[in-house]
Formats: sequence, structure tokens, C-alpha cells
Amino acid sequence: MALPDIHIRPRDELIAEIQREIKTLARERNAVILAHNYERPEVQDVADFVGDSLGLSREAASTQADVIVFCGVHFMAETAAVLSPQKTVLLPDLAAGCSLASTIDAEQLRAWKAEHPGAVVVSYVNTTAEVKAESDYCCTSGNAVEIVNAIPADTEILFCPDMFLGAHVKRMSGRQNIRIWMGECHVHAGISPDHIRQRRAEHPGAEFLIHPECGCSTSVLEAMSAGDVDPEGVQILSTEGMIKRPAISGADEFIVATEVGILHRLRRENPSKRFFAANEKASCAYMKVTTLPKVKRALEHMQHRITVPADVANRARRAIERMIAIGGHRPLSPVPERTVDPGE
Ligand code: 13P
Ligand code: SF4
Repeated sequence: MALPDIHIRPRDELIAEIQREIKTLARERNAVILAHNYERPEVQDVADFVGDSLGLSREAASTQADVIVFCGVHFMAETAAVLSPQKTVLLPDLAAGCSLASTIDAEQLRAWKAEHPGAVVVSYVNTTAEVKAESDYCCTSGNAVEIVNAIPADTEILFCPDMFLGAHVKRMSGRQNIRIWMGECHVHAGISPDHIRQRRAEHPGAEFLIHPECGCSTSVLEAMSAGDVDPEGVQILSTEGMIKRPAISGADEFIVATEVGILHRLRRENPSKRFFAANEKASCAYMKVTTLPKVKRALEHMQHRITVPADVANRARRAIERMIAIGGHRPLSPVPERTVDPGE
């Protein structure tokens, strides 16, 4: 018996079709689609704005749209809901959590504060709205050092929840009066000094772009201070800082120490340069749960709505508004710019 012909449509064609459907639905709903730099390539490509936590928060605060479809993780959608309580904020998949945000809850933070009365709390944006409500300032990797530097030098600081970013901020600010919560992101903690050593041997001329959440950032900077690693060519950057770096760098090759989703934009925006993941397995499963069919369903069914109780939102908003008002998108380390020889 002859089998019927089965026509399998190419993947690119299917992706383009669902992206068109999503765009049409977004127009009908007056929705803006925001995506983090770690999202799947095809999700980044359908978004109106792709960026880091700071850029996405700023976009969520200023958008004229009625609906924000947040292609990122839960705490990011919560931040958008706090900043724009009159808008509908949708998270396409509620399983988009964050291992780092889970390392501290509001009760633990209240207990820590009680042990250190008078201290100011600086929370990384990777925290729940309830933790932000207990905080004085929020920060992202893009402005953590600037936020800490804006606090009077004699004021004790409780910094949570990322211990590697905390160590970086302590080093950069030169302050001794910072206590650091021992939380970490499993993806960034998995990028080790060994990965850096190996990639460095493979690509000796490459510049290092390192996210301060990485397990390797402390040791690379210590090696720099000890003179074991040449500081030229090491950049500690937020994800958006990494995106901007190749255009102003004279290097042609880059070793990228963060979640691998960022390689999509880096390669697309810098076709003449080459990018290598410090650890190819550094993929965040929480960021990858968002797929195009889920984005489409989110717009069709207006799901899943993220809301924050008004009393929590009002307290969290103060800390978040301080965060979006201060700096960002500058290199996080005082590493000199590489001088580009015009003949290069
Ligand atoms: P950025 O704010 O640098 O994008 O860092 C993000 C992060 O790790 C989100 O989980
Ligand atoms: Fe959270 Fe780490 Fe994933 Fe970022 S990469 S969302 S910090 S688990």
C-alpha cells in the first residue's frame, strides 16, 4: 500500500509564521513584547525590546502599551508589575523561576536586618517583590557598584542575594562594611576558573567578557591583581554591557562568561567578530521554558497575569525606582580601554 505523502515544513518557515501571528496579536492587544538577552533566539527575534534586567525594567516603566508580555523570568515580570500597576503583565510560562532569587525570602531578610539594625539593604533585582519590599535599594549587575557608592561610606550595607556580585561590589567600592548573603545562581556558579584557563589557552588573543554573577569572576580579578592575568582584555559587564562591548573593542575574538543565550545577539550584531562560550553548558532552563507557542497562547488567552499585592508593590517600588534612576550600562571594572591602532 502506498503511503500518503507527508509534507514537513521547514523549521524556519514555521518560526516565521508563528512570529507573524504573534506580531498581529500584539498589535490587536496593544502589547509590547520584552525579552531578556538569555531567551531563545526565536523569542528574542519576535520581541520589541531585548535587553538586560535594567533596560527591561526601564522599558516596562516607560511603555505606552496596555499589555507587557514578559519573556524572561518571574521576578522580572513582577518588577514590571510593580513599576506599571495599571498595565497587564503576562508571563508566558509560570515555571520561569530563578535559582538565585530562591536563595532568600522576606522572612530570612527580616531576620538578617534584625541582627544589623541601622544597616541599609541593597538587593539585586533577582529577588521576589516581597524581598524588594524589605529593601532600601535594588540594583542590577549594570549599576550595583554605582548604587553602593551612592550610600554614605560609614553606613553598613547588607547585600543580597548573590555572593559573587557582592564580592565584586565590595572589591570595586573598597568598602569593608558590606555583609554579603551567600546566594548564587547555579548557571553562573558553574562557570569556573578552569573554564577560563582552558578557553584562554585556546584563544590567547581573545578579550574576556565576564558577568559578575560568575563563579570565575572573583578568581579572575584576584589573578589580575596578583599580576597573573593581564588586566587588558578583561571586562566585567552586565549582559547589555557585553552586547555593547565588541563595537568599541579592538579585539576580534571574545570569550563570553555568562548564559549562552547571549551569543545570539552578540553574533548577529557583530558578524565580523567571533564569540566563544566560556562554558557551553551554561544554559538557564528557566529562561528557555518560554517558547513561541507559549508567547502566542499568552496573547490569545491573556495568561499568565502577574500581579503584586498593593502594600508589597508600594514598598518594593521605592527600591526599584532608586535602581532605575542610577547609572548602568558602563563597564563594571576600571579596566583600561584597549587602545585601538587605526592600522589594525
Ligand atoms: P543582567 O541584568 O546583566 O541581564 O543579568 C541578568 C541575569 O542573570 C538574569 O538572570
Ligand atoms: Fe536566575 Fe541564573 Fe537563570 Fe539568571 S541565569 S534567571 S540568575 S537562574
